[in-house]
Amino acid sequence: MINHDDTLAFSGFTPNGNPKAVVRELRLRAEQMHADGHEFKVGILTGASSCQSIEGDLSKAQAIKFRAPFSTNADFRNHCNLGEIDYEDMHLGHVAERLRRGHYGEIDMAIIEVSALEEGNDECRAYLTTAGGIVPTIVRLAKKIIIEINHFHSPKSRLLHDVYEFEEYPNRKPIPLVGVCDRIGTDYVSIDPRKIVGVVEVNLPEEAREFKEPTPELTLCAQNVVDFFIRDMKAGHIPSCMFPIQSGVGVTGNAIMKAIGEQASKLPPLVVYSEVVQDSVVDLVQKGTILQASCAAMTCTNECIQKVYDNIDFFRQHLVIRPSEMANSPEIIRRLGVIAMNTALELDLYGHENSSHICGSKLMNGIGGSCDYERNGSISIFYTPSVAKGGCISAIVPMCCHVDSTEHDVDVIITEQGIADLRGKGPIRRAHEIIENCAHPDYRPLLREYLTRIAPMGHEPQHMRAALAFHDTFLRKGDMRLTNFAEYL
Ligand code: COA
Repeated sequence: MINHDDTLAFSGFTPNGNPKAVVRELRLRAEQMHADGHEFKVGILTGASSCQSIEGDLSKAQAIKFRAPFSTNADFRNHCNLGEIDYEDMHLGHVAERLRRGHYGEIDMAIIEVSALEEGNDECRAYLTTAGGIVPTIVRLAKKIIIEINHFHSPKSRLLHDVYEFEEYPNRKPIPLVGVCDRIGTDYVSIDPRKIVGVVEVNLPEEAREFKEPTPELTLCAQNVVDFFIRDMKAGHIPSCMFPIQSGVGVTGNAIMKAIGEQASKLPPLVVYSEVVQDSVVDLVQKGTILQASCAAMTCTNECIQKVYDNIDFFRQHLVIRPSEMANSPEIIRRLGVIAMNTALELDLYGHENSSHICGSKLMNGIGGSCDYERNGSISIFYTPSVAKGGCISAIVPMCCHVDSTEHDVDVIITEQGIADLRGKGPIRRAHEIIENCAHPDYRPLLREYLTRIAPMGHEPQHMRAALAFHDTFLRKGDMRLTNFAEYL
């Protein structure tokens, strides 16, 4: 039922909540078709990144023609950087809307994972597993639907979901969500039974990732995040009850949340409005450090997911999973006053931020939902260790080689070295704040030299030949510390 050139849309958001069995067969089919000399490539749409079976194995099988909106998969990254895949790196909060407006063309098949399915003549009710993603939209738009009922998940997963799809323009009403754990929709996704062309029963665990333990640098970063919260509460910028916090995907985000939890006695109880909750947040919810958490996916290990199912009567009161259009909605993020916290690969002297491309050309992952939050949060924070690759790469550079969040959307930068508060400062004061508080000591003299001697005068000085000297030196000599600005003048 799946043909070359089809556009497929999947449930899931991050490696969780994706269908697993059908895509593993699809990969075998693609390999067989290629071996027989036939073309076989499909377009792939998901809520966010997805799992190894979808984006990793299908890209290794050279079966992906187009992909949106995000990926964290190493195989996908490699094939994308070889130029084999047309990848749209896209705000996660906008995907459902782009689908509705037809920018991805017709959806030939939606394939979704559920924990249970209630069949009726006019309506089937599908109960989602660990992710909301874009499911309400794709099942409405798709020509055909395949459902995987995965008995690895408890049917009680329905108790975590709040399914709501936005109305279309121009008559859209305000989204009636004012509290982090408010429920404004249903606990099921409504499906037209005439579209269902297959139901597959499986028992397959999530292809979830394990998280590395926090490094000493990340623990220091987290200490600085907590110090920043306390400082801003004392100054009256953050109310004593705190704003909801968001924390991005990945090792750094998980480590920061874990470390914040360890220092929670210094803070009021926390509330999370985010696109993902990872293991650290679930643990903190269980301990009562986090009172409420809303997300588009539990991006958790299998053990952590089972813990939630085993204690569902507790977690259903404190944890809600929503479609990504809601989790990443600018309207809701701004209304709740969310504090956005995401990880940067690099930041420049004026606060521009890059989280997606290395040395200008090579894709790392993409922006995911980071810009949905950073642009609309009440405080926009980026954190990162000040150096990568054993010190050969500085996270603070004269000019970012690719920009995802601009200087206008970055309020605060935090590294293990300290905190740069950019609010209320023009470019030169920002640059001094970032160099002295956030850059690694190995790089401060070079950055000071650039700012005071190399860059010409101007409102936001950049020397057009030397601005990317750090990156050029890294590409040629493997170490940004060897930058010699004289070579560029
Ligand atoms: N240039 C090149 N490589 C860099 C780098 C730079 N400026 N800065 C960091 N790196 C490398 C690190 O050395 C590390 O590589 P390694 O695994 O080979 O050591 C890797 O990039 C970072 O990965 P990791 O340490 O595993 O951190 P992470 O899982 O926290 O990922 C991002 C960091 C930035 C890639 C990740 O947070 C991301 O994709 N962000 C954008 C999307 C986003 O923010 N989404 C949030 C909402 S969905």
